[in-house]
Amino acid sequence: MTDLPFTFTLPMPEVIPSNYDNHIERRLSDLRGQCLDQEAYAAMLAQENSLVYEVYEIKRPEIAGEILMGVSIVHPGKVGREFYMTKGHFHTVINTAELYYCLRGEGFMVMETPEGDTDVQPLSSGRVLYVPPRWAHRSVCTSRQEDLVTFFAYPANAGHDYGTIEQLGFRKLVVDGSRGPEIIDNPRYQEQAAREP
Ligand code: PA5
Ligand code: NI
Repeated sequence: MTDLPFTFTLPMPEVIPSNYDNHIERRLSDLRGQCLDQEAYAAMLAQENSLVYEVYEIKRPEIAGEILMGVSIVHPGKVGREFYMTKGHFHTVINTAELYYCLRGEGFMVMETPEGDTDVQPLSSGRVLYVPPRWAHRSVCTSRQEDLVTFFAYPANAGHDYGTIEQLGFRKLVVDGSRGPEIIDNPRYQEQAAREP
């Protein structure tokens, strides 16, 4: 890893960084317990452990002052009516923000704070999204054919807290409705657990 300035490119149409250190693949099995329609989830998983999303990471030391960057690619697909999505997380150092730049595709960023504020912002090519400190975030791909591709950057000491979302879920979900994508309250959200200290 260099401590000198460096550049890389995000060549269209694949937008895979010209240099990267990690390629993470997340499959249906990684979304266990997260999907609205658990029966549809089990049936799909029994057929095939499909690839749901991928991340290309550019490594930096995970210390304050450094910035971690990469490209996130959520593939098109649905579990029941629910569009393919990332696991989603809070940052372990909760007071850290994240910047997203959407390079390709259509979708949403589902966000919430520990206090229960929620926000869902649209993502499409050219749109920049600022996720302020304290907001958990999950990308959702709503296109039927195209990947949702975002470039992201965040403080390298932030860390990922997946456990809170694995336990409680997100308060809002994005599902396929009769007139396109719909944002609904998550009927499986673990209200009770959320109130516990
Ligand atoms: O740092 C981020 O928020 C992104 O790079 C995500 O990690 C990426 O989109 C994959 O999502 P998750 O980490 O929730 O699996
Ligand atoms: Ni993040």
